[in-house]
Amino acid sequence: MHLRRSRYVVLGSLLGAVLAMPSAWAAKSEKEMIARGEYVVRIAGCNDCHTDGYLLNDGKVPSSEWLKGSGFGWRGPWGTTYPPNLRLFMKDLTADQWVKEAKALKRRPPMPFFNLNAMHDEDLRAVYHFVKSLGEPGNQAPAYIPPDKEPPMPFASFPPPPPAK
Ligand code: HEC
Repeated sequence: MHLRRSRYVVLGSLLGAVLAMPSAWAAKSEKEMIARGEYVVRIAGCNDCHTDGYLLNDGKVPSSEWLKGSGFGWRGPWGTTYPPNLRLFMKDLTADQWVKEAKALKRRPPMPFFNLNAMHDEDLRAVYHFVKSLGEPGNQAPAYIPPDKEPPMPFASFPPPPPAK
């Protein structure tokens, strides 16, 4: 009797361990997703434009400030564009919606939307989880300024394209 009971105990704790596993896996994969997202954001250069000061400070901006958008304008024949706040952009999107948007996204220069379009689904999902983990979204970046309007400093200017031959 004693033996049988301890067998049940062993069986019971095994069952408990098996039942606990999926949530342990899920917790780990969420952590891994966030780490991968940080890596993808870093090497895909999203911070270069979407994080104020990143490009001019050797990337030494804490992640608490990442992807909040930038007040540094990019002026060219398209007008002046400002890299928007990506935390706000993703705020009301589900992961699936973000993947769909990112695959079809098209914007004015210098946004390399074609690179974002080419990103694999699992990398886009990782980026989403990372951006969501960043916390307080902060404020919107300045609005787009059309070509005939003078933007305030600071901005970088692209020359107009050469005339067509
Ligand atoms: C060279 C600068 C630059 C880089 C690098 C860059 N972006 Fe952008 N991004 C912009 C600018 C500027 C805009 C706004 C374009 C416009 O107004 O049409 C933009 C727009 C966007 C938008 C649309 C936001 C909205 O509110 O409509 C998304 C999403 C986005 N970028 C994601 C990314 C991601 C993710 C990366 C990294 C893979 C990235 N960008 C890299 C400059 C950049």
